[in-house]
Amino acid sequence: MNLKVKTKLVKEISESQNADIEKIKAGNDIIIECKNLNLWYDDNHALKDINMIVKKNKVTAIIGPSGCGKSTLIRSFNRMNDVIEGCKTEGTVEFRGRNIYGNRISAMKIRKYIGMIFQKPNPFPMSIYDNILYGPKIHRMRDKKKLETILKNSLEMAVLWDEVKDRLKDSALGLSGGQQQRLCIARTLAIEPEVILMDEPTSSLDPIATAKIEELINDLKEKYTVIIVTHNMQQAARISDYTAFMYLGELIEFGETEQIFENPQERLTENYITGRFG
Ligand SMILES: Nc1ncnc2c1ncn2[C@@H]1O[C@H](COP(=O)(O)OP(=O)(O)OP(=O)(O)O)[C@@H](O)[C@H]1O
Ligand SMILES: [Mg+2]
Repeated sequence: MNLKVKTKLVKEISESQNADIEKIKAGNDIIIECKNLNLWYDDNHALKDINMIVKKNKVTAIIGPSGCGKSTLIRSFNRMNDVIEGCKTEGTVEFRGRNIYGNRISAMKIRKYIGMIFQKPNPFPMSIYDNILYGPKIHRMRDKKKLETILKNSLEMAVLWDEVKDRLKDSALGLSGGQQQRLCIARTLAIEPEVILMDEPTSSLDPIATAKIEELINDLKEKYTVIIVTHNMQQAARISDYTAFMYLGELIEFGETEQIFENPQERLTENYITGRFG
């Protein structure tokens, strides 16, 4: 593609992207909004001028081929990239209208409101009980009764309570992969976040465990906002309300999931969801 055509294409994409965002914004129940977000790993420009919104109590999926910046984007929503050496961020990510990259905001605090689940379940090498109550204890909760309530509620919400209620003091490492992932979700719920970021949470799980997590995500949105990165197109179509398609560090198209899958506006999106590349 010559430079002139590419520049025109990118301009058209960003104009239509802005129009879509304006349309979706109308409801004003936005919990996260990034504006002109750029990110570099040394001189690798990994996120290019991302403008995107996330609606409260909805599931937003981020899709796109490997290396396009999905994990980088989701990590920038709770400043998880801060710890990476050589990483530089420009632009803003607003959480409830406040820039999380602002001077006086601590990353620790943000992560209390915006929790994260990783691709590979990462239970701590301690009991199920201690895993779940790790966060609340760090946040100085001491009331034993309250802690017990949090423990039970979080495990119930993550649909794990019945499977572990008789072995709470056993090591979390003895759970199956699917159970470990639900434990990690329960551990995140225990700190009562508002937003839950999930980076390919089911990619190492079998279809039954995957179905359980998908069902759980659907239940979670009554109380929480979920942003999920997935390589599984059917999964994005099944569980999300909004979908963002990324390619080479750019947000190519963002819209209601049904529209993205049934009537994509960009040729790149269409090629990707019909499996023509990626
Ligand atoms: N910790 C890091 N240090 C340096 N570069 C990184 C780091 N993480 C990601 N990158 C680079 O940033 C770009 C985007 O990577 P990212 O992991 O966000 O892609 P992705 O869409 O999540 O890919 P995948 O689907 O394979 O997980 C790539 O060029 C990658 O090499
Ligand atoms: Mg990734």
